[in-house]
Amino acid sequence: MSDTSNPGLFICFEGIDGSGKTTHSHLIVERLRTLGYDAVYTTEPTRWSEPGKRLRESFFEPTRLPVKDEFRLFLEDRIFHVKSEVIPLLNDGKIVVTDRYYFSSVAYQGARGLDWQYILKENEKIAIAPNLVIFLDVPVDVALDRIASERTEGVNAFEKEESLRQVKAIYLLLADRFPKLITKLDATKEISEIQEDVLKLITKLQNKK
Ligand code: TMP
Repeated sequence: MSDTSNPGLFICFEGIDGSGKTTHSHLIVERLRTLGYDAVYTTEPTRWSEPGKRLRESFFEPTRLPVKDEFRLFLEDRIFHVKSEVIPLLNDGKIVVTDRYYFSSVAYQGARGLDWQYILKENEKIAIAPNLVIFLDVPVDVALDRIASERTEGVNAFEKEESLRQVKAIYLLLADRFPKLITKLDATKEISEIQEDVLKLITKLQNKK
């Protein structure tokens, strides 16, 4: 894996659907900007690459893509994301906050039966290392309640209870395996409390640079 010896800072939010990643990644970008940092939000799957568009369409199709095809599309989209967004932004000295990265592939495509160690290895070949991964840890029931109350377009194929349990189990395994890289935060806490914790983690890293 390439290293991140560039002037920027690369932060990833990870978690099961309904964990609050999107809310927290947007909020922290706004907060960092008000504090004078140059922060940028990005997300996977991207909205611009062909594989990213194909994946987003597939979320609402009745039949899931075969897991190997899905994995390849996420990988191709990630190559696009890293090359066209993350690296240029980091080289410009920005704080890049991404809403999902390769740990999502390990957890989600792993939960669909693909060997998670293989997924990890393939991703480590093409992805640059983040400085910090924030795993928003939430019980599956809480996540499902949030999904049901907050979204209007219905629950997508990724959001079934059993699969979320498997996804969460793989995230926990990854958090155990990479304790220096992945910080687990209790995502049932108040949004403002979580934001304070996230800000502390990021400013600590920024001060070390
Ligand atoms: P979102 O809920 O963050 O918009 O993500 C869309 C879905 O894509 C979510 O259910 C998780 C899934 N996903 C994967 O299965 N593998 C991946 O590598 C990524 C980035 C997302």
